Amino acid sequence: MMKTPEVQVAQVLKSVARNEHIKSYIQQSNELYPLLLKAAKRFVTGENKQEGIEIANELISKGYFISLEYIGENITDLKKCIKAKDEFLNLIEEMGSMSIKQTVSLDLSHIGLSVNPETAYIHLLQIAKKANMYGITLMISMEESSKTNDILDIYKKASEQYPNVGITIQAHLYRSNNDIQELIRYPGKIRVVKGAYQESAEVAMSRSKELNNCYLKLVEQLIEANHPVSIATHDETLIQEIVHRQYLNHPNVEIEMLYGIRPDLLSNLKSKEYNCKVYLTYGKEWYLYLCHRIAEYPENLYRAVTDMINPSLPESSRSY
Ligand code: FDA
Repeated sequence: MMKTPEVQVAQVLKSVARNEHIKSYIQQSNELYPLLLKAAKRFVTGENKQEGIEIANELISKGYFISLEYIGENITDLKKCIKAKDEFLNLIEEMGSMSIKQTVSLDLSHIGLSVNPETAYIHLLQIAKKANMYGITLMISMEESSKTNDILDIYKKASEQYPNVGITIQAHLYRSNNDIQELIRYPGKIRVVKGAYQESAEVAMSRSKELNNCYLKLVEQLIEANHPVSIATHDETLIQEIVHRQYLNHPNVEIEMLYGIRPDLLSNLKSKEYNCKVYLTYGKEWYLYLCHRIAEYPENLYRAVTDMINPSLPESSRSY
């Protein structure tokens, strides 16, 4: 079957994002780095936690919930994993001192999974303990399917000790329907996403009506079990169905969207008094994050070019 130009762009971007040579070339380029950072700023709050916290506070004051992530993944150097773990501890300390009882999100491969699962688990427990002390929820992101078993195992062990730890599940994986039967027995919040990673047809389905039906089925099971759930999508058709089924009327259900994506839609849902959350990120590793956002919606490439050239870009936070 012929691939559309959008699918081709998405696939190229996903492989460019993973190319370490291109990444380090950009990071070292005095011309490209600031230019691309301007484009990333639509989706990323900034390079340091102060910028993340500032925008978090702005959104909280407008009535949103927030989730904040220090971006990074696939770190194979133990020292860098320890540094990342310490950054998460500092972030939580700072949020705690400001009484920001919200959510912190992380990738386990940022804090040790790519070194070994035990390291990620030990680091996760340290972060979860501190988050628990301050009434902060800690959401684990889901990564490539090759890591799903390890991530779920670590989540289950941590969740038994810290109920403030939650997990993300990808509706595009065929296995997720089975996984959820088990995950429902653990106390942590479950965030349902479609899935951002390129996977083989054996393990995952592509964007389709079938995928939306699987997504709805996962959410339905969580709602029926009265389990805390974050419905994380920007898909308007899917959201209309979710609203129609009155899933968002449950007090422990929220709708969560990535910063900079469909703020109009989220703001409309908030005006109807649903629990609305914005997923914010900060950090120097914004390059992969930017590539993901463009790959999943190639039209963002036009926005990125405009953002790079137009110095008067309105900040995303003002659109909420
Ligand atoms: P879909 O991709 O079908 O897009 C539906 C519509 O939404 C598009 O037609 C467009 O209108 C809009 N849209 C979607 N993406 C857009 C973009 N980048 N820019 C502009 N408009 C866009 N994935 C993962 O594998 N592991 C994880 O842990 C997480 N975590 C996570 C947390 C949160 C809070 C969210 C919202 C998403 C994730 N994701 C994720 C990403 C997720 O898997 C998925 O790739 C994106 O949410 C896009 O999928 P949608 O559900 O929005 O639908």
